[in-house]
Amino acid sequence: MKVLIKKNYREVSLCAALKVAELVRSKPAAVLGLATGKTPLGTYRHLIRLHKKGLDFSRIRTFNLDEYLGIGLALDKSYARDQSYARFMHEEFFKHINIPRENIYIPDGLTKDPEEHCRWYEEQIRKEGGIDLQILGIGRVGHWAFNEPGSSLDSRTRVQPLAMETQDDNYKKFYKKAGIPREDMPHFAITMGVGTILESRAILMIGTGAEKSVIVSKALEGPVTTEVTASSIQIYKGDALVILDRQAASRLSDSRFNQVQE
Ligand code: PGA
Repeated sequence: MKVLIKKNYREVSLCAALKVAELVRSKPAAVLGLATGKTPLGTYRHLIRLHKKGLDFSRIRTFNLDEYLGIGLALDKSYARDQSYARFMHEEFFKHINIPRENIYIPDGLTKDPEEHCRWYEEQIRKEGGIDLQILGIGRVGHWAFNEPGSSLDSRTRVQPLAMETQDDNYKKFYKKAGIPREDMPHFAITMGVGTILESRAILMIGTGAEKSVIVSKALEGPVTTEVTASSIQIYKGDALVILDRQAASRLSDSRFNQVQE
């Protein structure tokens, strides 16, 4: 695992985008694993800028980590109350780049048969040849995707109840602004499993802000535990790159992790 510490959110986002762009250039039909949330937004904005300068996504395939159960919609529509990750991805990234609709995979929050859908999703990842680079944030509870505390490190794509802290965080970040009452926030999601994520060929984890500092140090330096599913990065066998800003890295004690790179 390699850890890069950058000055601030902007530098983290730029560095992460350059890593993704490097892969897109060297492997034009690469399979990217994508994350939602506040953290990767800056990365997507830089990638959109690079696309405007010629970065080509026309053969790229993408798999998103997760989606709330019970909401979702066709990617080209938009409803004020819809807080689906499908909509988030469309608004924040896909509609600004040249990726064909059929190359985009996001779990379907409106599926009638979630179990079958989860099996299908795993099957599509295999059929597309596996994920070359998985982008990950980290939640305050230490989750990767919606692998909440207690999720097995072997887990596969499945329906997962959301931890109360996750519901509170995501309500504040996304639902409240849209005027949606707290009780309408979904309590379940479809998420890729930790085992699914660990099969990616490379991982790019990004973490920013002081509120992530405790959980980042637990994930990178604490015990590997199902209570902090991001700690599984310590047993990951592929290429892992972690990019943090100074604040998120501020509680790391290992001196290898203490170098700020300008
Ligand atoms: P955030 O979410 O990027 O909005 O902080 C991260 C996560 O929950 O994985």
